[in-house]
Amino acid sequence: MGRILIKGGIPLRGRVKISGAKNASLALLCAAILARNEIVLENVPDISDVRVMIEIINSLGASAAWENPETLRIVPPKKLNAGAPFHLVKKLRASNLLLGPMLARFGQATVALPGGCNIGVRPMDLHFKGLTGLGADLSLEHGCVCGSTPDRLVGARVYLDFPSVGATENIMMAACLAKGQTLIENAAKEPEIVDLANFLNAMGAKVRGAGTDVIKIDGVKYLEGGVRFPVIPDRIEAGTFMVVAAATGGDITLDNMIPAHVQPLSAKLREANADIIEGEDTLRVCVNGPLKSIDIKTMPYPGFPTDMQSQLMAMLSVIPGTSVLVENIFENRFMVADELKRMGARIKVEGRMAVIEGVDSLEGAQVKATDLRAGAALIVAGLIASGETEICNAAFIDRGYHNLEEKLKSLGAIINRK
Ligand code: UD1
Repeated sequence: MGRILIKGGIPLRGRVKISGAKNASLALLCAAILARNEIVLENVPDISDVRVMIEIINSLGASAAWENPETLRIVPPKKLNAGAPFHLVKKLRASNLLLGPMLARFGQATVALPGGCNIGVRPMDLHFKGLTGLGADLSLEHGCVCGSTPDRLVGARVYLDFPSVGATENIMMAACLAKGQTLIENAAKEPEIVDLANFLNAMGAKVRGAGTDVIKIDGVKYLEGGVRFPVIPDRIEAGTFMVVAAATGGDITLDNMIPAHVQPLSAKLREANADIIEGEDTLRVCVNGPLKSIDIKTMPYPGFPTDMQSQLMAMLSVIPGTSVLVENIFENRFMVADELKRMGARIKVEGRMAVIEGVDSLEGAQVKATDLRAGAALIVAGLIASGETEICNAAFIDRGYHNLEEKLKSLGAIINRK
């Protein structure tokens, strides 16, 4: 799975360009299935999750290929090939986002129950509740979700018991081609939801209210497609570099990003005594004094993102005092604590809470990434630790970060792949 070697202890300085958002790109690739005509997506990150999703939609009958390093040209399928192949789907949780578009456009879908990062149970009950609410007939057969619609899906009122990102996206995409109006209540409000709604509308859909609690979709007969659409910048990649700047006591300016999307993280880093200077599409993080311990609770957007929790844990492990992290989204997202402890961190995990007693320094060690963001956290830890850190299972990091080593090197890091 590859290893990354880091020699830590260097404050990172300079400018870095943020790539397009992984999670938005994955949803947009699924939404492309809904269209009749070719689509061009710009600012798509060349990361392994995106490559797997391209393979999956191509296996279904689409034809997606890179036009240049950040631009994808997608010809949607005219008819659907057999189900998405299990060996690909199991790599990617987000492949469950194909259910809604396949059902809406072709009236049938077979998707193997998806895999993805090992960060909890991650059920799909809310996806099923929404899609059956629109009239789909769903069953589980031999580890696959099989779905069909007698005729066209029919708009309905769907209340989500939790504002699930994936369920909101799946239902929103399905509802675009349903007959009549759909209301998604207690919808997720993440920027990726808004990006997906903008993309669907550009293709001819009628989606209103994305980014609020209630999304209203008036179904149309077909989505024309034929659009060029830029994906939003990745707020989690941006957040990771923000933490790298603060944790190493450096000074990094991020380009090609949307400061409003990282506002919850900016607020917490300011609380920790880092300086954050926002421009229109840039943001600078620097440190001009000792950092302070802070408490964090992960919440659905606009709360603090669960995808930044591990990186913060690494940073807080060397900040004097006690910090408390509460994870409210996933039940199994503290696995990185054990790896950080191998580097000298003092972290106590109890259920959904982690208590971190700041130590003077971390020491380089051999550690193992257990999921994508845990991998990012170990990069942060390696950058602040004394000596050399070797991170195994680096392929997890490649799922979500484009050119991470090169970007860190350009900021002064000593980092290599083995
Ligand atoms: C998406 C993101 C992921 C991020 C997460 C939360 C993508 C590809 N992934 O994941 O990076 O960490 O949002 O911001 O966009 N749940 C249910 N039933 C369901 C669906 C979800 O109980 O039907 C639960 C999950 O188990 C979890 C919580 O809701 O505890 C949040 O999940 P959800 O918002 O759906 O996350 P994903 O869409 O999987």
